[in-house]
Amino acid sequence: MTVHSSQVRIGGDLHVCRMGFGAMQLTGPGVWGPPRDKSNARAVLRRAIDLGVNFIDTADVYGPGDNERIIADALSPYLKGTVIGTKAGLVRSGPGTRENPGISMNGSALHIRSSIEGSLRRLKLECIDLYQLHRVDPNVSIEETMGVFRDLRDEGKIRHIGLSEVNVEQIKRARSVVDIATVQNVYNLATRKHEDVLAYCEANEIAFIPFWPLHSGDLAKSGAVQNVARRLDATTAQVALAWLLQRSPWIILIPGTSSVDHLEQNVKALDVEISPTELEALEQMVA
Ligand SMILES: NC(=O)c1ccc[n+]([C@@H]2O[C@H](COP(=O)([O-])OP(=O)(O)OC[C@H]3O[C@@H](n4cnc5c(N)ncnc54)[C@H](OP(=O)(O)O)[C@@H]3O)[C@@H](O)[C@H]2O)c1
Repeated sequence: MTVHSSQVRIGGDLHVCRMGFGAMQLTGPGVWGPPRDKSNARAVLRRAIDLGVNFIDTADVYGPGDNERIIADALSPYLKGTVIGTKAGLVRSGPGTRENPGISMNGSALHIRSSIEGSLRRLKLECIDLYQLHRVDPNVSIEETMGVFRDLRDEGKIRHIGLSEVNVEQIKRARSVVDIATVQNVYNLATRKHEDVLAYCEANEIAFIPFWPLHSGDLAKSGAVQNVARRLDATTAQVALAWLLQRSPWIILIPGTSSVDHLEQNVKALDVEISPTELEALEQMVA
């Protein structure tokens, strides 16, 4: 039995399973170029849909472009109810490394307008259900960038608008221009700096999409989490994901994987119930 509802509404009308899929791993090394094994990437995406996942997160900058292309290649024409969330506002100049992520920000009207056309074409969509600003550009006011997003919505090119890696003040400024349906910030058992943003999202019925739900895979290997996982007869990754599901009913998960086995395991986290005592133990161990 699950201790939480298995669905969240994005923007009041898009019902998505709280276990979504983050597609970024389905690119080449350093989020550059297409995945090495395209047929495996297609298999992962199709299995996600078979398992009831109906929210896929991507971005124009993953590849760039290759990630959106492989999603359309695997899933178009899309099963009714499939929600694709993509992003704009970052530019990638080469493969990312720890020393040089190889990305810069661009929130200008010119860039966002050219990005949306590329995403619509690659994803083979006429309207993008969730269009997210990947990062706030320090050289362009958030009001100005949100004005472009609002215009794209009014033109019927996007349905709902999301933000990524923002603070509460930035969300409020964005909302002074247009409705915000989602916020995607880094958040997981080991990284809790956005508690205030999560609280704000809950209070304002904004879905919260934690990126790096497995802390880039580290939480799937955490000894502290494994102790709880053994007692629950679950895997370490499942416990890290189940903790997020129980943390807030407004959370939608987008764990990333290039493995069908890991995908199947992650989706089953929807059925893992962590008791209040284990929750407390988990939070103390990882803090
Ligand atoms: N908004 C933003 O700025 C931003 C930034 C980063 C990411 N994102 C989004 O967040 C999504 C998730 O991020 P992420 O993929 O970087 O990190 P993540 O979901 O925290 O972790 C992914 C890593 O965990 C491993 N993994 C997944 N399931 C596992 C399992 N059951 N057991 C063991 N290992 C497992 C994967 O390896 P395997 O392939 O071997 O399974 C991969 O290395 C991305 O796809 C992207 O959509 C957004």
